[in-house]
Amino acid sequence: MKREKDKVYVCSNCGYTSAKWFGRCPQCGEWNTAVEVEGAVKNAPSSIEFASSKESVVKTERIKTKMREMDRVLGGGLTKGSAILLAGGPGIGKSTLLLQYASELAENGNVYYVSGEESISQVLSRVKRLGVEKDNLFLSSSVEVDGILSSIKGKTVAVIFDSIQTLHISGMNALTGSLPQMRECTAKLVEYAKKTDTSVFMIGHITKIGNIAGPMVLEHMVDTVLYLEGEVRSGRRILRTTKNRFGPTDEIAVYEMSSRGMIEIPDPSKIFADMDSEEPGNALSVVVEGSRSLLVNVQSLTTFNRRSNSIRIARGIENSRLFMLSALTSNYLGVHLENNDLYLNILGGLKITDPAIDLAVIAALYSSAKKMSFPVKTVFIGEVGLDGRVRPVQQMKMRISEARRMGIKKIISSYLSKEKGIIGVRTIKEAIAKALMEDE
Ligand SMILES: Nc1ncnc2c1ncn2[C@@H]1O[C@H](COP(=O)(O)OP(=O)(O)OP(=O)(O)O)[C@@H](O)[C@H]1O
Ligand SMILES: [Mg+2]
Repeated sequence: MKREKDKVYVCSNCGYTSAKWFGRCPQCGEWNTAVEVEGAVKNAPSSIEFASSKESVVKTERIKTKMREMDRVLGGGLTKGSAILLAGGPGIGKSTLLLQYASELAENGNVYYVSGEESISQVLSRVKRLGVEKDNLFLSSSVEVDGILSSIKGKTVAVIFDSIQTLHISGMNALTGSLPQMRECTAKLVEYAKKTDTSVFMIGHITKIGNIAGPMVLEHMVDTVLYLEGEVRSGRRILRTTKNRFGPTDEIAVYEMSSRGMIEIPDPSKIFADMDSEEPGNALSVVVEGSRSLLVNVQSLTTFNRRSNSIRIARGIENSRLFMLSALTSNYLGVHLENNDLYLNILGGLKITDPAIDLAVIAALYSSAKKMSFPVKTVFIGEVGLDGRVRPVQQMKMRISEARRMGIKKIISSYLSKEKGIIGVRTIKEAIAKALMEDE
């Protein structure tokens, strides 16, 4: 029997590669995901050259634009020759955002916007609506990678592909939008970016479960991964860096979607925090996302129920975190949340991973359960251990200065933070007591 040595099988869900066909992927367990692709068997060169680590390399050049928030999420401007993936759900504003950015980048040289998703006339009408016409911003609706790359001319700053799922390499034995196609296209575009010092943007759709369709592999191949999130119905959008080889991750930018495009909101603390709410269930905190600190508002609602199983729903933090923090509240603060339904929300649609919000979540749960409020302009900053102790968190200086800037009067945090101007506490019980004290 003839063996076909140059064929490999790739799982279209997780990217697992095997020389043998498989019915069920041994890595991710999905059925019928094996896709046959031509394996690239290259001859390895006999010797290679190493560069000295003391070699004077050219400094990484960055392009800055008027879109300051976009520059921020990219780590302080666009690094030349970088490959960037922008992922987001349908209709969230990916094309709009990158078209606006393309126009700003065109101040520095040619920019090509390749849209396999929409026709030229559709893109043109968006260009007109947004008012982003430029002499050297070029549009195409081609989908074949080699053809596109060989047509790029002149001093080019960036090429934008909308979307990676629409591209293909002709002659490749895999469907457009399949993982092997996307992987090959991405590899080619990344190589192009590095070779020509042109930045390449790729838009990627994400699936309902939040993965870039045809998952993780693409994230590993590019330098920077940005996620655009928000609820389509509301105008608020948050752009977040989840990976960056040229800057900090978890950097965020906030936008408002309008008919004129995405409008940057340079001071998000003002929209994420309701400073004056005196209703029970509210607590403020200062979280750090990337290089920025933000004042945020945690809201909670606890309602008594007679059923045997209660509901716990968290928006903006992990549900499991709410489980843990509500258990801590019941255990150490003497409020019995076991027979309550719990709802928790971070105002403004922000998703928070910073553990410093723990203390504010507990404060909000306590406040709602006891139907009492904390004095306005009080913030809670601290991670909470299973022993009910408040732990210090990083970047306290930055958090305190953001709190002060926003007019906060009382900052409750761990006594182990040596910063001035905070009310130091050891346990969550002490935190609540000190927050409720009228004057220090
Ligand atoms: N004329 C308009 N006025 C105001 N907002 C508009 C207008 N046209 C489109 N939009 C907004 O733009 C959004 C779509 O933006 P965009 O096409 O950039 O999103 P996308 O993420 O690229 O979508 P897709 O997944 O379809 O490619 C719509 O949800 C809508 O909110
Ligand atoms: Mg689009």
